[in-house]
Amino acid sequence: MTHKTPTTNLDTAPFLLACRGEQSTVTPLWLMRQAGRYMEEYRALRQEYGILDIIKTPELARDVTLQPIDAFDLDAAIIFADILPPLEGMGLSLEFVKGEGPVIHNPIRSEADLDLLTIVPPEQALWFTLDAIKLTREALDPRGIPLIGFSGAPFTLASYAIEGGGSKNHILVKSFLFEQNEAWHRLMGMFAEVVGHYMKAQAAAGAHVLQIFDSWVGALHPDDYRDHVLPYTQKAIAIAKEGGVPIIHFGTNTSGMLPLIKESGADIIGVDWRIRLDHAWDILGHETPIMGNLDPIALFAPWDQLKARTKAVLDQANGRPGHIFNLGHGILPKTPVDNVKRLAEFVHEYSKQ
Ligand code: CP3
Repeated sequence: MTHKTPTTNLDTAPFLLACRGEQSTVTPLWLMRQAGRYMEEYRALRQEYGILDIIKTPELARDVTLQPIDAFDLDAAIIFADILPPLEGMGLSLEFVKGEGPVIHNPIRSEADLDLLTIVPPEQALWFTLDAIKLTREALDPRGIPLIGFSGAPFTLASYAIEGGGSKNHILVKSFLFEQNEAWHRLMGMFAEVVGHYMKAQAAAGAHVLQIFDSWVGALHPDDYRDHVLPYTQKAIAIAKEGGVPIIHFGTNTSGMLPLIKESGADIIGVDWRIRLDHAWDILGHETPIMGNLDPIALFAPWDQLKARTKAVLDQANGRPGHIFNLGHGILPKTPVDNVKRLAEFVHEYSKQ
């Protein structure tokens, strides 16, 4: 399979224009976790295959990536993968347990555990996602829809690696950061490299834009973020930027650290729903492209309520170039599909200039 360069019509795709902070005819939208369990087509496939089977079979990953594109009027696709497979490549044992979520069977708890970790090139450890990107580009190019690649950020990956799974209070990862300073910096250095090279490889495979998910970084005090996390996010993004495509940074609960997050080097900043969009712009500077930020729970509300909140987001953006409409976090299972369809149509209709 050869890598195709972006076609001319894709250069003016609203999503790519907004990523560059340029005006487009409509506000582009996509939804984090847009392929997933709220869709019947996805649940049907999951009857037959485990999530890791889908991720590791490029044809299946492509098919799932296309499901929301076929169903809704979205401006970008995001490759079907997860933030956790890179941990497997480093030597951690990953399983998605039904009803429980991801489990790491051999979590990192001490400096000695770091000796078990290895850094393997993404072409070897994560070839399936790179192949899925190439296959998906072939399906999307004729439709003029750009493709997003992604990775977890060093802190969020460290959280899963140390906690051994999801966590409410992040006690183990934060204790590791506070108490095992030297080991922490060694671990984060490894993640920065793995994440950076994985993202760069996704750009080389054909991703038009890359998103770095630091989903849980809002658990930190801004000073801890600055001293113990930001340098590694910066390093990962600097390596990824060698791939030559725009980079979106996304985190939740980050309203108190937005100026630091801007220092990560990302081109576009994703914000959750805990801040007004115009306030986020005041903090980040009006030239910064922003992605966000409808509360995902608004999608469960009757249409008039959902419409009012969607309008409010668009009114706060006020037609500013560089707004990418999205949810403030991933779409949830059980979200009514009809509301997703209406949301996408409404964002385009209301923002048309
Ligand atoms: O957006 C997309 O359509 C692409 C697919 C995607 C998945 N995971 C597929 C998935 C993306 C972008 C992710 C990112 C991801 N994965 C994040 C960052 C985004 C966020 O929500 O903050 C995180 C923290 C994970 C880790 C993860 N993966 C958890 C905690 C779980 C279990 C809980 C849950 O949401 O189900 C997963 C599983 C997972 N990854 C599912 C999907 C569609 C559902 C699992 C299933 O099919 O059974």
